[in-house]
Amino acid sequence: MDAFVVVQALWVFLPAYVANMTPVITAKLFPKWSAPMDGGRVHRDGRRLMGPGKTWRGLVTGAVAAALTAWIQSQTRPASWDVTTFGAQSGAWAPVALGTALGLGTGAGDAIKSYFKRRKDRPRGAPWIPFDQLDFVIGGLTFAAAAASILYWSNATPTHWFTDTLLGDQWPVIAILVLVTPILHLAVNVIGYSLRLKDVPW
Ligand code: CTP
Ligand code: MG
Repeated sequence: MDAFVVVQALWVFLPAYVANMTPVITAKLFPKWSAPMDGGRVHRDGRRLMGPGKTWRGLVTGAVAAALTAWIQSQTRPASWDVTTFGAQSGAWAPVALGTALGLGTGAGDAIKSYFKRRKDRPRGAPWIPFDQLDFVIGGLTFAAAAASILYWSNATPTHWFTDTLLGDQWPVIAILVLVTPILHLAVNVIGYSLRLKDVPW
């Protein structure tokens, strides 16, 4: 395994990384669109289901940003490098579909994490290692696997994008994502904190 494999893994997962950062930025840009995904509902333990930090704005803008990212990547991929096509050989809609799935999965993983984080009585913004770092990796991979399976089984794409690019025998991409993402996550949050985009450096 060489360093290039790590670069490939990060490139394939770039839509999810973008989707995970977008809500922080759109929260600053559109503070009034703050409708929470839990609708303000309170669990029987007295705490919010997910809390005011998980908004529809974050979910939707994250998914749109991921779709755009995957589409741009599919247009700019190096010719010798077919792992980044996101199924683009079937049409431009395929990267958009897979990017949307990566983005929605990212937001869903993050929101489900927050549900359990509230049950553990950890307030919004408190650290919860390693779940804060890996929630979106698990969510993004799960939704992307489901979307790629639907596209493949319905004959919309000739190959199965997920098994082709993320379970290939020559590079254990998922292991790389799980190991490298927490380090990247911390680095990005420290930058976001110093830019005053985030309230806490984690
Ligand atoms: N955000 C949002 N909608 C989402 C996810 C995130 O608006 N679906 C915004 C919120 O302003 C949130 C910020 O991005 O505070 C940072 O997101 P994150 O770190 O995931 O949430 P926390 O506020 O830390 O909440 P939690 O403790 O539940 O992780
Ligand atoms: Mg957080």
